[in-house]
Amino acid sequence: MRLTIRRPDDWHLHLRDGAALAAVLPHTAARFARAIVMPNLAPPVTTTAEAAAYRARILAALPPGAAFEPLMALYLTDRTTPADIDRARASGIVHGCKLYPAGATTHSAAGVTDIRRLDDTLARMAEAGMPLQVHGEVTAADVDIFDREARFIEAVLAPLVARLPRLRIVFEHITTRVAVDFVRGSHDGIAATITPQHLSLSRNALFAGGIRPHLYCLPILKTEPDRRALLEAAVSGHPRYFLGTDSAPHARRTKENACGCAGIYSAHAGIEFYAEAFEAAGALSQLEAFASHHGADFYGLPRNAGTITLVREPWTVPAGYPFGDDTLVPWRAGETLAWRLEGAAP
Ligand code: DOR
Ligand code: ZN
Repeated sequence: MRLTIRRPDDWHLHLRDGAALAAVLPHTAARFARAIVMPNLAPPVTTTAEAAAYRARILAALPPGAAFEPLMALYLTDRTTPADIDRARASGIVHGCKLYPAGATTHSAAGVTDIRRLDDTLARMAEAGMPLQVHGEVTAADVDIFDREARFIEAVLAPLVARLPRLRIVFEHITTRVAVDFVRGSHDGIAATITPQHLSLSRNALFAGGIRPHLYCLPILKTEPDRRALLEAAVSGHPRYFLGTDSAPHARRTKENACGCAGIYSAHAGIEFYAEAFEAAGALSQLEAFASHHGADFYGLPRNAGTITLVREPWTVPAGYPFGDDTLVPWRAGETLAWRLEGAAP
């Protein structure tokens, strides 16, 4: 069986830099026409000039003949000003600004300590039509890790939506039924990305037969009812849920570690994983809208002209990919996937 769909985009992706960038970029560029590239480098991408330089490094790292457009995002800090937003908007290369609550995840130490410090900056984003991409977790140490997303909605996101009704927000990598319901119940300027791992796995997978560091990501996997709510949302055809892999490569030694990093690498099969999840839900016919239409429409960008073709033919994911002087262990390493990318047409 073959499935040809309009070429998809990845609306949430970590590409890193240097040797890591060169190692992972071909996987994404083979499948996706565009991706929102997360700015959580060390140091973070906080200005339009830095975003332009990073964009040039990504373009230089593309394999010959690849057709891929990086869509840049700025990393908000306590010091991001309205003038920074004006420069980003004028550049034409910055498509959003990312809110990392300080301490929430990988390379978030420079993130925002109190969102109210950014009132003027966020107001300018609302005026300029610049989307805000949100890592939606509170960081207080006394909040249970499984409750951090729900608490963020109450404490930060709902008040923000009420304060700035014109601000366009992408609630990134949603993981709970509460988040699904919040987005559905909000106005048209509020959307969400959903990762393949949160569609396919619940938190039991983290401890299946022993602790599984390669399944540790943030926000952490949630319960089976949460997973089902996410899958229902993804296959529903609702235009404000769309694809964002959150593929987040880390070297093997930093994952298999007494204090392992958060992040699941999925770019090697970034569309195939969704095909599997949608097929399991009996909803393959909804994949194209979720992967190739809704995100572009929300961001006000044209849908892609080309196509990709997937074939239902088993293949085995490698145990690892070269990653600088280490190895990258991909999601489902050594396991068989049902769908394979056959090719892309421009
Ligand atoms: O699991 C994650 N990994 N979640 C994030 O928010 C960041 C990401 C990363 O950069 O590794
Ligand atoms: Zn991410």
